[in-house]
Amino acid sequence: MNQPAYFHKVLPAGARADAEELGWLQVAGRLQAPALLERTRRDDHTEVITYEDVFASGRCHHLLGDLIALADHGRAPASNVADFIDAVCDSLIASAATTGRTTALGNCVPALYTDRIRPGGRVDQWYLTPNLTLTDTQTGEPIPLRTLTGYTATLNGTRLPFDLPDIIERARHALNPDSRFATAITQGDPTEPNLATSAVGPCWLDFEHAGRNTLPGEIANLLWYLLALGGWLVPAYQSDVYARTLRLRLPPA
Ligand SMILES: Nc1ncnc2c1ncn2[C@@H]1O[C@H](COP(=O)(O)OP(=O)(O)OP(=O)(O)O)[C@@H](O)[C@H]1O
Ligand SMILES: [Mg+2]
Repeated sequence: MNQPAYFHKVLPAGARADAEELGWLQVAGRLQAPALLERTRRDDHTEVITYEDVFASGRCHHLLGDLIALADHGRAPASNVADFIDAVCDSLIASAATTGRTTALGNCVPALYTDRIRPGGRVDQWYLTPNLTLTDTQTGEPIPLRTLTGYTATLNGTRLPFDLPDIIERARHALNPDSRFATAITQGDPTEPNLATSAVGPCWLDFEHAGRNTLPGEIANLLWYLLALGGWLVPAYQSDVYARTLRLRLPPA
């Protein structure tokens, strides 16, 4: 018999705690998720949402991030990772089958999409900052990405003019609140620390972005990050989150 144990998630009181609880309520009956046991307000303007600790309860074994690291270290077969990602895709397909509909982006959970693409939002802050640099391979000097606007890259004979503000503006136009997408009720943030392995398939954690989300967004976050970019939670780029969130914290392989 496993010890009952709790995972306490502390959030700023109000909107973020509401989003977490409402997100959990929308997905919990449809996807595997920890039991939500209690929500309490504290005196310091925070709220605590208490969940079943899925590792202490024995429901889950590994976070996806740890499963990848185990495979990188040769301590688990790589096929375990591939099988798990297949199962996550099956979970998205099941969500689409039961709750799928085409709807306006404005009806979807805003935090990672409509909020970030707003003028002055995170996309502007992250990509137009002089701190986002590429390293000049000849001089070793950091070059702010935005200063490359006006240059043309030629890739396999195809000329690609680079204009960062224009790229953002076009994304902003495409992701306007009236634009319509295939959507479903999903967890909304399918990254390596938010998915855990269990005997009966993926268990979802972290419900701040759960609710009606676009399927292209979910698929991009899961598959583009993992398969094309090589992961979001990699120690080289996210060392603090890696150390804080993963359970095994294996060194980079
Ligand atoms: N129910 C749970 N049982 C056990 N561990 C959990 C549970 N929920 C979350 N965790 C662990 O805590 C980590 C952080 O929780 P969560 O993802 O909900 O918060 P977050 O806001 O993304 O946190 P952070 O901003 O610190 O990354 C998860 O990646 C996971 O390792
Ligand atoms: Mg998380």
